[in-house]
Parts: sequence; structure tokens; C-alpha cells
Amino acid sequence: MPELQLKRGEVVRAEGLVSLQVKEGGVSIVGGLHERGAKVVIPKAKSLPVEAESDAVIEYTAGPGGAIERLPGRTIPPEWDELVGEIARIKPRVVLILGEVDTGKSFFTTYVANTMLRQNLRVAVIDGDVGQSDVGPPTTLGIGVIEKPVAILQEVQPEAAYFVGSMSPSGHMLEFMVGMKRMVEHGLQRADVTVVNTAGWTTGGPGRALRLYEMELLNPDLVVALQRGKELEHLLKSVSPGKVRRLTMSKQVRPRSKSDRTFLRELYLARYFEGAGRLTLDLRKVSLERCYYRTGEPLDPKGLGVAPIVYAEKIPEGLLVVVDGELSQDVVRELEAKFGNVHVTPLGSEKNVAVGLADANDELVGLGIIDKIDYARERLVVVTPVKDVSQVSVVQFGSMRISPKGKEIGTVKPGSF
Ligand SMILES: Nc1ncnc2c1ncn2[C@@H]1O[C@H](COP(=O)(O)OP(=O)(O)OP(=O)(O)O)[C@@H](O)[C@H]1O
Ligand SMILES: [Mg+2]
Repeated sequence: MPELQLKRGEVVRAEGLVSLQVKEGGVSIVGGLHERGAKVVIPKAKSLPVEAESDAVIEYTAGPGGAIERLPGRTIPPEWDELVGEIARIKPRVVLILGEVDTGKSFFTTYVANTMLRQNLRVAVIDGDVGQSDVGPPTTLGIGVIEKPVAILQEVQPEAAYFVGSMSPSGHMLEFMVGMKRMVEHGLQRADVTVVNTAGWTTGGPGRALRLYEMELLNPDLVVALQRGKELEHLLKSVSPGKVRRLTMSKQVRPRSKSDRTFLRELYLARYFEGAGRLTLDLRKVSLERCYYRTGEPLDPKGLGVAPIVYAEKIPEGLLVVVDGELSQDVVRELEAKFGNVHVTPLGSEKNVAVGLADANDELVGLGIIDKIDYARERLVVVTPVKDVSQVSVVQFGSMRISPKGKEIGTVKPGSF
């Protein structure tokens, strides 16, 4: 196993996949102290500096794409340390991190969290990026309390999570906002300092709206803006100047390609569904959310006298029908004349739709992938790592199709079911 001798203050960059073990002395990884005997894994597509806090010896193995190289100096700018020092001193309850894609938001969040931990503060981290999810699986928002130094935020165990429904808040703005508010409330109860890591969507109508309403709703005590230049100033104009701290991003940020991002999302999803099984939910006992199905009064499909209709329900908007086959335009017109709007769902179209399985309080218990809705028997079959049916009170429909191997198969328009 290759060994590396480091003098106090020396820095190396570990490019994942690398597993390392501290043999002598202590190293700091993103502000977290790892001493003799500690093992750290830096996964593929992540790159982290390892700084010797004392003379140190590390042993490592490099997997695919992995490498360790010496760097001329620290990669963490001194202004970052000043700010982290200030955060430790003033203990703001909620710190929100703003930054475009690839500006080091997750790194900075980790740095704050590890440094607060070293100061014996209780720190919670909220992952507000549903696509490049750091805490909990993609499609969700998550919060965890740091119990030990973490190299990457994926090591943080989620304490609570909320299903947003897709890899982006686009089309799910309300779920996103509700989830973020819930996460912050959780953090306020559980931690001294809650760090909110946001996603890099900062411009355009929806991007501006997301970031501005997020800040208005969450009311952070401090907003840290990680910038290349002045690209966040349009948002910062709406924040009271005393709350804003501007940081220049580190020159060491390694941008991630689109394919790296897809790779990581699939990896996390696949890992999440490893060991998943089929769970049959009794629809008379669980309630469905974010869909039309089962929100109205069931009608006897035979009574409608239209062969392809296997399930029908009267909803305030009109009629919901599930069809096994095609409905002719004439039949649709007849039904519209009688019931108003006709919402047609093809039988089987629910296959592979991602759902959130939640408790009675809408707290996420786990993700699921729909295998089948049995309309006649009132059963929903999902593939999920959740084993205990009694934990699930609510099924929240999302708008992605995914496979248990983590592949993103496609999207579903919200409101299709
Ligand atoms: N100060 C730093 N020193 C060394 N490496 C850094 C530093 N800041 C960021 N990096 C590295 O750059 C890469 C991108 O950083 P990070 O994931 O924190 O960015 P991000 O803004 O959260 O990206 P995304 O928009 O995808 O969420 C990571 O591999 C990270 O370890
Ligand atoms: Mg990030």
C-alpha cells in the first residue's frame, strides 16, 4: 500500500476514488480532524484537500480515477477561516449558503460543519439540492446533525427528509418550499447552528424566485455568497446588508461535468435501492397525495358502458378514468358532455414512477418506485427499501420514472394520476 509522509502544513489533493488511513499524526480534511487510525474514503468524482495538522503518515489505495498529488499550499482561502471563526463566535441559528453551480457550496458547508463540531457546537446541515443530493437520496431534501467529522456531506445521516418529487424543483416549487421550511424548523429544534446548502440555480425567473422566496421564508441570520465575480449581486440586493458575507470561490474547485452528475445521481439512487423489496400497500389504509386518484367518489366503471374503462372516479374537476386501451374521440366527447373535464390515465402508466412513502406527518420514511396499481383490489405495489408497511401512512406521487438500478427513465407530468 503506498505511503505518504507529510510535514506539518503540507497539503495533498486526493482525487476519488481513494481510501486512506492515517498511520501517524493528524490530518484535516475539509476542516475535520482525522487522527491515527482514522479511515476516510473519497469517492469517485470528488476531490478533497488533505492538510497535515502535524507531521503525519498516511497509507492509501487508489481505485478507478483515483490519485493523490502534492499541492503547493492550502486551498482554503484565509477569508474563509475568518468567516468560519465569526460563525463560531456569533453562533447564528441559520446560515444559508448561496452560489452558482460548482462554486464550492457543499465544500464550504462541510467546512463550516466540521469546524463547528471541533468547537463542540451542535450543527445541522440541510441539503437543499434535490438533484445533486448531499444528505439523503436524490429527489429529496434532507437534514442531518453532524456527530463526527465528515469528508463529504453524503456521510451525514439524514434525521429527517422531505420528498420533492423530481431531480429539480422545477414543477415542484411548492413542495420544495414546504420541505425547506420543515427542514429549517427541524434544525432550529435540534442544533445550535443550521447550515443550509442551496442549489446553484440562481438566475432566470424561476431561479431568482426560488432563491429569493427561499431566503424570505427561511429568514437566515447569515447569507454566505460564494462568487466567482458578482454573479449573485442581483439576489443580494434583497438581503439586508448586515446579514451578507461575500466569499470568493476557491481556485481549487473542480467543476463536475454533466456526465459526472448523472453518474453520481444514478450511483446514489442505485445504492439507495440496493436490497429493496416489493411492498404491497392497502389503499384503504394509506392515503395518496399529489394525485387526483382516490380523491373523489368512485363510480362503477361498468355503469359507464365503455369497454376500455377499468376504473372511474368522479372528481370536482370532472371525471377520472383509467383505461386499458384507447378511448375514441366520440366517447371522450360524450363523457365530457356528461361529466365535464375527462382525465384519462392509461392502465400501467404508473410503472416506475418515483413516490415518497411518508408517515402521517408527511415525514419521509423512504422512497419507492411504483410497480403497479391494482385498481380493483385497491392495492399499490412499490419497490422500496422500507420493510415495514405500518410505517407508511401516505404515498406522495413524484414526476420521475426511475429504475431500482438508479436509471432515470423519464418524466411524468405532475397531476398525471
Ligand atoms: N476550497 C477548496 N479546496 C479544495 N477543493 C475544493 C474547494 N472548494 C471546492 N473544492 C472541490 O471542488 C469540487 C466542487 O465543489 P462542491 O461540490 O463543494 O461545489 P458545489 O458548489 O457544491 O457544486 P454543485 O453546484 O454541484 O452542488 C469538489 O470536488 C470539492 O471538493
Ligand atoms: Mg453541492
